Amino acid sequence: MKFNIAVLAGDGIGPEISEQGVAVMTAVCEKFGHEVTYKDAICGADAIDKVGDPFPEETFQTCMEADAVLFSAVGDPKFDNDPTAKVRPEQGLLAMRKKLGLFANVRPVETFDCLIHKSPLKDELVRGADFICIRELTGGMYFGEKYQDKDRAYDTNAYTRAEVERILHVAYGYARRRRKHLTVVDKANVLASSRLWRQVAQEIEQQYPDVQTDYMYVDNAAMRMIQDPHFFDVMVTENTFGDILTDEGSCITGSMGLLPSASTGEHTPVFEPIHGSWPQAKGLNIANPLAQILSVAMLFEYFDLQIEGKLIRQAVNASLDANVRTPEIQVEGGAKYGTREVGQWIVDYIKKA
Ligand code: IPM
Ligand code: MG
Repeated sequence: MKFNIAVLAGDGIGPEISEQGVAVMTAVCEKFGHEVTYKDAICGADAIDKVGDPFPEETFQTCMEADAVLFSAVGDPKFDNDPTAKVRPEQGLLAMRKKLGLFANVRPVETFDCLIHKSPLKDELVRGADFICIRELTGGMYFGEKYQDKDRAYDTNAYTRAEVERILHVAYGYARRRRKHLTVVDKANVLASSRLWRQVAQEIEQQYPDVQTDYMYVDNAAMRMIQDPHFFDVMVTENTFGDILTDEGSCITGSMGLLPSASTGEHTPVFEPIHGSWPQAKGLNIANPLAQILSVAMLFEYFDLQIEGKLIRQAVNASLDANVRTPEIQVEGGAKYGTREVGQWIVDYIKKA
């Protein structure tokens, strides 16, 4: 296959992990005879500094022309403590989601046996937990009508039937390929938007008789995720609930720095780590590149190149087993590997495989 990849490295540790993602992508393409070209584009605080816009038109065009976007992270503390800032790096992320029509955000919650001791949950609760959250990404409160004056403010949680239908079909697609169990998470006892979700889901459920569908209020789902994470196979939910539940999901596995994600929809799909830009670590060569590298695995799998994806997963597991790890997950007394060293080890593994 021929790949034209837009590389959006962004801020903080973004450029360092991006470099490793690209190196792994290149190694896999060489091995399997795929052609790949990359085009870098700016976003986030970096783009605000350079052109005053966190998702400039030129970056948008580069994304539109690409087959896939390899995204790293955006965010800079200089904006966090300034509520009056007119533009923020995160707006670049939201603009990218909206403009590329990335309505389906797929966030796997996977455990790695060797990192289970990092989980805040008991070993037996979390070991083997494996589910994915499909988060609706271009609707709801994030994009609904907003208002703010000095005494009053609101955000509107608006959804249309069409928006709910299309995300449900994506979720059922995943459920069919997995353990055939879908949990629709909402707050239908209180919110009108959730009642629409549930009504539409109950209709669409009929088209997927091979999948077991259940419905759960979001507060209950948040609880169930820590009491019994094995319950879940595929979970689907609206934008804000998905934001909250996926942070919970990533931390219960103990492997937040390892979790990738995919956002797909109307135009070019985007593959990115779940973690943020970790500005304090910028330039120190200590950031874990594995979530970015696993995002490359998701990229191949999206194009139905399963063997390529599998080889990357195998290389990542081998690096963990060999204790070739960045400091935050290294075993006591183990050698400290940097971002580049971990990336290089994985590239070498792929070449030799
Ligand atoms: C995420 C992040 C973003 C979100 C922020 C950075 C705007 O938390 O991708 O989960 O809220 O969607
Ligand atoms: Mg979030």
